[in-house]
Amino acid sequence: MEKLWGGRFKKNINKEMEKFISSLSFDKKLVKYDLLGSIAHVQMLGKCKIISKEEENKIVEGLKQILKEVQVNKLEIITREAEDIHSWVENKLKEKIGTVAGKLHIARSRNDQIALDERMYLKEEVLKIQDLLKDLQKSLLITARKNLGVIMPGYTHLQHAQPLLFSHYLMAYFYMFERDKGRMQDLYKRIDVLPLGSAALAGTSFPIDRKYVASQLGFKKISENSLDAVSDRDFILEFLSASAILMMHLSRLGEELVLWSSQEFNFIELDDSFCTGSSIMPQKKNPDAAELIRGKTGRVYGNLINLLTMMKALPLAYNHDMQEDKEPLFDTVSTLENSLFLMSKMIETMHINKRKMEKSIKGDFSTTTELADYLVKKGLSFREAHKLVGGMVIYCLENKKNLEDLTLSELKSFHINFDEKALEILKPQSAVEAKGSFGGTSLKRVKESIRKAKKILKQKL
Ligand code: ARG
Repeated sequence: MEKLWGGRFKKNINKEMEKFISSLSFDKKLVKYDLLGSIAHVQMLGKCKIISKEEENKIVEGLKQILKEVQVNKLEIITREAEDIHSWVENKLKEKIGTVAGKLHIARSRNDQIALDERMYLKEEVLKIQDLLKDLQKSLLITARKNLGVIMPGYTHLQHAQPLLFSHYLMAYFYMFERDKGRMQDLYKRIDVLPLGSAALAGTSFPIDRKYVASQLGFKKISENSLDAVSDRDFILEFLSASAILMMHLSRLGEELVLWSSQEFNFIELDDSFCTGSSIMPQKKNPDAAELIRGKTGRVYGNLINLLTMMKALPLAYNHDMQEDKEPLFDTVSTLENSLFLMSKMIETMHINKRKMEKSIKGDFSTTTELADYLVKKGLSFREAHKLVGGMVIYCLENKKNLEDLTLSELKSFHINFDEKALEILKPQSAVEAKGSFGGTSLKRVKESIRKAKKILKQKL
């Protein structure tokens, strides 16, 4: 295939070199954006009288035809056919409309073109990811609402700490993902900047109209500095950073699902359709999707470090190193989209083992903070109360008793100020109800938080 830059060369490119520099096997993903960007560019060239109306129409027609053929799979992008997607499009255009195709590249370079394609691609994907985040939040919200009142142990250090409403737990993830959505919304603004018109690095001598191209392609802003515009991959790095945090969140939820579905916990059962079995142990049902989401977090972190390292200390402006930005970007997008979708479905379909959650709190001392607080309200300092209740725990352990089974006279032997109410406080239900502070786990507060979350989901992205 003819090279876009062939004119200056006397010798053909080395075959291995040709394969080494080719990006078509992966940047073909950008074909739609390359074509749409090219159409807008040519329309602008026509409007600014840089090319004739006739030339504009011919090129636009050719590009539209290619777009249609690609979309209906009539035209296949074969890797050995070109160096990259930009060359491929131009070659195909030439096949269709002849040498006038050469006018497509006036006032443009592949350097501003690739930056444009990537921005167009990422704008669409970030919107998709926000929608998927919203779906996941919806699944969490629905599950929280359906299971209102179910009590489970809350942990610190993975040791029973204080009882919680299961719905409170789920809503913690709702708000985590709300921050991820916010990060995506925020970085979207910085993707939404048109680099086209920067040409190779210095701008162009042609009287182009960048604002027109921006409005044709739906970009809110145009880049301020041509050199920066073709050197910049911050918008991808920001996306990869936000994605790394999002995957970290998913990995924590994935880990909880793995733990909770283990025989030891048995808090939930994942739906069969999101599990697999073992080829040797007939009884096995493994939480594969949750494990893989946890596992795939590694590649998303890796993609961020990959790109940060690739960009480090690169002199301005475009360097061929930057071609390496695409695979980590595409890989992150597909990993994120698949993980979000599967997580949402797993949450939606899982079975909650209410009885097991509630049973596991029995005898776990997770209401001792309540007891200490109770004594504080009777006038003790928190330190005194903490020490005294600690003694009660030792007493229970040594006498093989549950805290909640102590009698009033036993309580009174620890402190005279204990009365009937103290017995009530020891119940997990009361401990949960007592946490009425804003953002706390009492039923009233959780209901309030669910109401708010519903409103959040109604907001337009
Ligand atoms: N295939 C290149 C990339 O993806 C496009 C830009 C190439 N520019 C150049 N002067 N070689 O980064």
